Amino acid sequence: MIVTTAQLFKHAYGKYAVGAYNINNAEQAMGLFRGCIQSQAPFIIQISKGARKYTDKRMLEAIIRAAAEIFPDAIFAVHLDHGDEETCYDCIKSGFYSSVMIDASHEPFEKNIAITKRVVEAAHAKGISVEAELGMLGGVEEDIKVEDGHATLTNPVEAEQFVKRTGCDSLACAIGTSHGAYKFKGRQSLHFDVLQKIKALLPGFPLVMHGSSSVPKEEVDRINAAGGKMPGAVGVDPNEYLPAAKLGVTKVNIDTDGRLVWTRVHREFFRDKPSEFDFRPPGKIFMDEYAKFIASRNDKLGSSGQLADLRKSLGK
Ligand code: G3H
Ligand code: 13P
Ligand code: ZN
Repeated sequence: MIVTTAQLFKHAYGKYAVGAYNINNAEQAMGLFRGCIQSQAPFIIQISKGARKYTDKRMLEAIIRAAAEIFPDAIFAVHLDHGDEETCYDCIKSGFYSSVMIDASHEPFEKNIAITKRVVEAAHAKGISVEAELGMLGGVEEDIKVEDGHATLTNPVEAEQFVKRTGCDSLACAIGTSHGAYKFKGRQSLHFDVLQKIKALLPGFPLVMHGSSSVPKEEVDRINAAGGKMPGAVGVDPNEYLPAAKLGVTKVNIDTDGRLVWTRVHREFFRDKPSEFDFRPPGKIFMDEYAKFIASRNDKLGSSGQLADLRKSLGK
């Protein structure tokens, strides 16, 4: 069942975080739905601009609609990840998305506000909620690369002004994470001090943590042992998800970890079976492994086991 992102946030706020997982194809969708049913967790499916372009945006919508039929017990929202203004309007018009993210975080403060406000107006007119971003994460997202040293943590006072002036429904804050597989050079920890200050100024307001993949060491080691080259890959400590959730982080974005599971499964499969060329056997292993991974992340987020209570609170 597709619900609004606002409904998920209302149930989760302050107690647990909802996992927001990116998908690009049917195998990822199957693994995601299976993992969330196994762990009885609500979730958010995220679609990036790159994912919309990968095959065709209509293909992804059709996969999601089919998955909702195959897994009638699943409760989830559909979200545009890192949208620009034009893509936000396209998604708002489509009527399929529960929420959109307008990411104008690379723009100066006033311009970020102006762009975000326009998107909020258009989205709210259709009952769709808006995630915006303030502060800059390091790393790469599709066509934007933030070099080391140019990432900036969210300023809590600006965050309060930004939310009040834009009317956005949730805020992606930079609290030390970055996109991709190389997140920390030294201390591997979130800036809980920044989070605490933001929460004090914006009590009850849902915050979003991007760049939240944990980049498991076992996964990276297995990839490297099967011919990969990912030295120094490191991610967020998943034991910090729940403490962050208690400080208002209601949505935790995870994409890179799913790519690592895919890479490990396929590298090992073709290393061990060099004469194989049917993509379905490794595809099946991937779906099982991804489902297991998703269930394990939902356990860390505290979203596991929340479905029954959520269903009750939705009156379904
Ligand atoms: O933050 C970016 C997400 O991981 C999506 O990545 O733009 O390559 O699809 P993508
Ligand atoms: P990761 O690269 O840590 O998976 O972050 C994903 C993300 O923030 C999607 O918006
Ligand atoms: Zn992101």
